[in-house]
Amino acid sequence: MVNVAILGYGTVGSGVGEIFYKNGQHISERVANEVNLKYILDLREFPGDPYADRVIHDFSIIESDPEVAVVVETMGGVGFAYDCTKRALSKGKSVVTSNKELVATHGYELLQLAKANGCSYLFEASVGGGIPILRPMSNCLAANELQEIVGILNGTTNYILTRMIRAGLSFDAALKEAQDNGYAEKDPTADIEGHDACRKICILSSLGYGRHIYPEQVPTEGISNITLSDVAYARSGGYRIKLFGRSIRRESDGKVCAYVAPHLVDEESPLANVEDVFNAILVTGDSIGDVMFYGRGAGKMPTASAVVADVMDIVRAKGKKLITWEDGGSDTTYPVDEVANRWYLRVAGDLFVDGAKRLRNGDAKDGESAFITDEAMTPPQLRAWAKGLEIRALYRVL
Ligand code: HSE
Repeated sequence: MVNVAILGYGTVGSGVGEIFYKNGQHISERVANEVNLKYILDLREFPGDPYADRVIHDFSIIESDPEVAVVVETMGGVGFAYDCTKRALSKGKSVVTSNKELVATHGYELLQLAKANGCSYLFEASVGGGIPILRPMSNCLAANELQEIVGILNGTTNYILTRMIRAGLSFDAALKEAQDNGYAEKDPTADIEGHDACRKICILSSLGYGRHIYPEQVPTEGISNITLSDVAYARSGGYRIKLFGRSIRRESDGKVCAYVAPHLVDEESPLANVEDVFNAILVTGDSIGDVMFYGRGAGKMPTASAVVADVMDIVRAKGKKLITWEDGGSDTTYPVDEVANRWYLRVAGDLFVDGAKRLRNGDAKDGESAFITDEAMTPPQLRAWAKGLEIRALYRVL
C-alpha cells in the first residue's frame, strides 16, 4: 500500500480527493499497488466530505509518519508550501504539486533535495493545467535540442482578450465578466500583469533548456494596457493580440532569452485561434520542428487529473521518477533587447511613416495612427527608428 497526504484541500486539492474517491480502484489497479489517501492537511474541517475523517491540522503528523510516501502540495504560495515541501523531501517522501510559483522560484533546489533523498518532485499540473506538456517535453522530445518555446500560458488573460476581440468588450468589462464567470480572481493581478505566465515560462524553459530560469530574469508585461483600438488596428492588418510567454535559445552560446508580453499574431496562425480559457504551447526542436500542445490550462478537475497522474508515476517508479536541471545564473540568459521582431506601434498624430505599413481603424481616436514595421528590429534599433514619435502602445509581431 502507498499512503498519500494532500496539503491544502481547496480547488485543486479537493479535486484530487474527488478523483481518488471516484477512481481509487482503477488507480490502484493501474499502478498495481493500493493507493490510500491517509491525510488531508487544511485549516478547515470538511463535514460531509467522504474523507472528512482524514482531515488534520498539523503538518508534523504527516512529516513524522513513515507510512506516508507521497505528499500532494496544493496549497500554493512560497511560504508554508516551501517549508512543507522541503521537510517532506528531506524525509524521503516524494512531493507532487500544481504550485507554479514554488517550482519557478525554488525548483532547482527542490529537485536537488529530492535527488539527494532518493525521492521525486513532480509538477506536471503547474503548467497548462491538464495539458500533458512537461512529461512529453522531458520524454518524447528528449532527443531534440530545443530552440524556442512560445505559448498562451494563462487562461484568464486569454479569455479577456478573446472577449475583447470577439465581443468588443473593453478590458475592464471583459475582466469583470471573467470574474463573474469564475475565470479571474477577485485580485486578478497575477494573471493580468503576466506573473502567472512568467512562472510557467520559467518552468518550461528550465526543463526545456536544462538550466533554471528564475522569474526575476524574465521581463514581464501583462494585458491591462491593451485597448479596443489596438484590437481593431490589429484586426485591420489580419492579426490578433495574444499574451505570450516566450523563450528562445541562442545557438551560438546556448543562452536563453525568456519574456512575457502581448504580441500581434497572424490570424491564420494556430496560436491566434486558441480562444477563451484554452492554453497552447508551441515547442520547436531541432529534429522534430514544431509541436503544439493544446487544451484546458486551468480548472479543478483537469489540474487534479495531472496531479494524480504524477502520483501514479511515482508509485510505479517506486519513488524514483527523476526530473532534473542545472542551476541558473546571470550567465544563463541574454537580454530581451537582443531579440529582433517586427513591431506594432500606436502613436500620437495622424502620420505616415517610412518603413512601416499603416493600419486602419474606423473607430480610431482622432490624432492617432498605428503601424507595423517592415523590418524586424531589436528594441534599441526600434527606439532609434521611432525617434520623435510619441508611442502609446508597442507590441512585437510574431
Ligand atoms: N489563473 C491561471 C490561468 C490558473 O488562468 O491560467 C492556472 O494556472
